Amino acid sequence: MSKEKKRKALLSKLSRNLMISVPMMTVVAVAGFNIHTGSNLGLIPSAEAAQGEAEGEAKGEAEGEAKGEAEGHAEGEGEAEGKAEGEAEGEAEGEGVSASLKKAVRRPEGYTPYQGDVAELRALGEKLFNDNSLSSNGLSCATCHTNGMVYLDTFKNQYPHFVAMGTRDFGMDMVHLDEMVQICMVAPMAAEPLEWGSKELAALTEFTRQEQQKYIDKP
Ligand code: HEC
Repeated sequence: MSKEKKRKALLSKLSRNLMISVPMMTVVAVAGFNIHTGSNLGLIPSAEAAQGEAEGEAKGEAEGEAKGEAEGHAEGEGEAEGKAEGEAEGEAEGEGVSASLKKAVRRPEGYTPYQGDVAELRALGEKLFNDNSLSSNGLSCATCHTNGMVYLDTFKNQYPHFVAMGTRDFGMDMVHLDEMVQICMVAPMAAEPLEWGSKELAALTEFTRQEQQKYIDKP
């Protein structure tokens, strides 16, 4: 193949790749978490993973393109490097929930929850429940859970109880309500867990307790 032909072939391939990977990146970044199954699609449910992958891909392609244009014969290499980089980063971080996150969502030893006025905690909890700055992906708890949406029937049981997501992704047999708040913080919300013993955690826990009662009472 002549240099010129090779270059054209590469460019059209790159633009094809770009067309595929841009929507893919959006899917990964926005919905790395599958709301219907609660599954994180085998990717670690954190913003870093989505970002790592997006950056890896974008960088790889930009590099490939630049090299391809500059020197006809280096195209293949640029592309291969870019791809390998993107994939490796995605994979390295995509092996499920890390041991430290699994630990972070469990009540620490000797833990005493923050104590405060219930009405005040509920009011703050409601605010936090609707606050999408709590997540790293633009979601708020309410994005998924307005009007009792997305909960499974286990939500009706007294805590601690079995929760599918807790067992599947965090290896927990039983989950306390504050642990459930932490699980949703780190998995669907792709954020750091709240500080144990913090007013914020107590507030979200108290608010979701009220939500649970509504869910139980729902006909
Ligand atoms: C992207 C959607 C999503 C977001 C955002 C989200 N959750 Fe969840 N949440 C789920 C899913 C899915 C389940 C069901 C998990 C299961 O039962 O296996 C769930 C379940 C729960 C449960 C009930 C578990 C049970 O059965 O006892 C609580 C409580 C909860 N979430 C609280 C929260 C809080 C608090 C936030 C915000 C910090 C939040 N969630 C954000 C998806 C989400």
